[in-house]
Amino acid sequence: MKTYKQNETPEFEMIRAAAPEDEGARQYYFIEQARILWKQQFDGLVDSGEAAARYEGSLLSELQAEGKYGTFHIATFGCQMNARDSEKLCGILEQIGLKGVESENADLVLYNTCTVRDNANQKVYGRLGYLQTLKKKRPGMMISLCGCMMQEPSVIEKIQKSYSYVDLIFGTHNIFKLAELLCCRMMSENRMVVDIWKDTDKIVEELPVDRKYSFKSGVNIMFGCNNFCSYCIVPYVRGRERSRKPEDIVSEIKKLVADGVVEVMLLGQNVNSYGKNLEKPMTFAELLREINKIEGLERIRFMTSHPKDLSDDLIKAMRDCEKVCNHLHLPLQSGSSRILKLMNRHYDKEGYLALVDKLRAAIPDIALTTDIIVGFPGETEEDFEETMDVVRRVRYDSAFTFIYSKRTGTPAAAMEQVPEDVVKERFDRLLKEVQKISSEVCGRDLHTTQKVLVETLDDHKEGYVTGRLSNNTVVHFPGDESLIGKIVDVWLEESKGFYYMGKQVERQES
Ligand code: SAH
Ligand code: SF4
Ligand code: F3S
Repeated sequence: MKTYKQNETPEFEMIRAAAPEDEGARQYYFIEQARILWKQQFDGLVDSGEAAARYEGSLLSELQAEGKYGTFHIATFGCQMNARDSEKLCGILEQIGLKGVESENADLVLYNTCTVRDNANQKVYGRLGYLQTLKKKRPGMMISLCGCMMQEPSVIEKIQKSYSYVDLIFGTHNIFKLAELLCCRMMSENRMVVDIWKDTDKIVEELPVDRKYSFKSGVNIMFGCNNFCSYCIVPYVRGRERSRKPEDIVSEIKKLVADGVVEVMLLGQNVNSYGKNLEKPMTFAELLREINKIEGLERIRFMTSHPKDLSDDLIKAMRDCEKVCNHLHLPLQSGSSRILKLMNRHYDKEGYLALVDKLRAAIPDIALTTDIIVGFPGETEEDFEETMDVVRRVRYDSAFTFIYSKRTGTPAAAMEQVPEDVVKERFDRLLKEVQKISSEVCGRDLHTTQKVLVETLDDHKEGYVTGRLSNNTVVHFPGDESLIGKIVDVWLEESKGFYYMGKQVERQES
C-alpha cells in the first residue's frame, strides 16, 4: 500500500505511540484525545470571553448545555457512497464533542468531494474561495477536504499551491482515521496535514455513525470497483473491489432495525459482483436472501447493478424476496454496441434489451431507471440514435443523463472528443425524450392503493407529507410529522407526471 503523508510532529508521535493496536480501539482512543484538545480550546475561548462573539445567538448556551466544545459543518458532494461516508465522519465528530450546524461559519468545515465529472471539482474550488473569507474572520477555523477528488495527485498539488489555508486533507480509504488526523493537525502548528492512501484492503468496522434519517440507512456491502469503464475515474479514486463479510452486514442491519430503521439501501459500485473476494465466496443473490430474513426490516434497495453481472439467480431472488423493492437501477450508459465496447462495458445493445425482457417477464411491474452518458468520444449521430432507440423501447421510469466529462488518466481521455455544441444538442434531445416517457409511465399505479414509506414533511405544501412507493415514485398526501418513518396505505388519487397526490386509507392486509 502506497501512502502520501505530510507534517506529523514529534508531539503527535508521542500521543500515537500510546495508541492501542486494534484499529477500532485505536480510533476510539484518538476520539478521546481529540475531545481533550477541543475541550482545552473551547475552555480557553470561554475564559477569554471570545466564545460569546464566536457562537452567536443561543449557540454558546446550547453548546454548553449539550456538553459540546465547538461546531462542525459537513458538505457532501457526489453519490450515495459519499453520503454514507459523511454519516460516518459526522458520527466521529459528534463523539469528539462537536455539534453539527447548517452554517459554514463553523469551527470545522469538512467538504466530502466527488470527482466523477469535472463540474463537481469546479464547485469545490469555487466554494473554497468563500471559505477563505470566513476563515479570515474566524481565527482558528479549520478547513478540511476529503473524498474522491483528494485521491488525485494533481488536485493535492493544486490545493497546496493555491489554497494553502486548507488545514487537513485525507482520502477515501482512511476516513475512519478522522479523529487521529484531527489530533495530528491540532498538534502541528498550523501546517497543512495531508494523508492519502493509494489503496487499501482494510475495512474498519464498528465506528460511530450519525444517520441523516432515523428510519432509513445506506449500508456499504462493498467498496471500490474493478470494472474500469473507460470514461470513469471511480476505480482510480476508490480502489479495488472489497466486499464486507455477510455476517458484518447482517449484524449492522439488525442493529439499525433495532434502532428504528425500516429501509436499507445496500451500497456498492457494482453490487452484482458482491462476494467474489470473500474467504467464503457468496453471491449478491444469496446475500439478499439472508437480508430478507431480518425481522422488522421492511424494505431493501440496492445500487448499483452492472448489467454484465446481473444473473438469473439474482432476478429470482429479487422476485422471491418480498422486502426487495420493486425497482432496479440498471445503468445503460449508451445504446450503441460500438460505443459500449469502447466504454469497456462488456454488454451490447441486444444483451441489455434481452436482460430487460427477462426482468420484466419475472417481475412485470418493476420500475427501471438508468444512467446515460451523451457525447462519449467518437459518438456519432447513429450511435446516439441507438441510445434513443433503447430509451424508447425500455421506457424508463427515470434516467440520469450526463454530458461526458473527460477525466485525466482514464483511457477515454485520450480518444477523440465530440464537439461541445453537438453534445449539447444531443443531450437536450435525450432529456426531452426521457422526460416525456417518464411522465407517461410514472402514472401506472394511478387509482390503486399502495404502501408508502413516509420520509419528510412536504417542502411545498403545509399539512402534507412526502413518501415513496416501493418502486421509488414520490407521493404527497395530507399528514403530519407523526407519520415520518411509517409505512402507510395511500390511495393514489392524481398523477402529476413524476409524482402522485394521494390520501391515506385504512391499512389493508396484503
Ligand atoms: N458504479 C456505478 C455508478 C458510478 S458513477 C455504475 O457503474 O453505474 C455514476 C454515473 O456517472 C455513471 O453511471 C455514469 O453514467 C456517470 N459517469 C461516470 N463517469 C463519467 C464521465 N466521465 N462523464 C460523464 N458521466 C460519467
Ligand atoms: Fe465507474 Fe464502471 Fe465502476 Fe461504475 S462500474 S464505478 S461506471 S468503472
Ligand atoms: Fe463521485 Fe466518488 Fe461517488 S467520484 S460519484 S463521490 S464514488
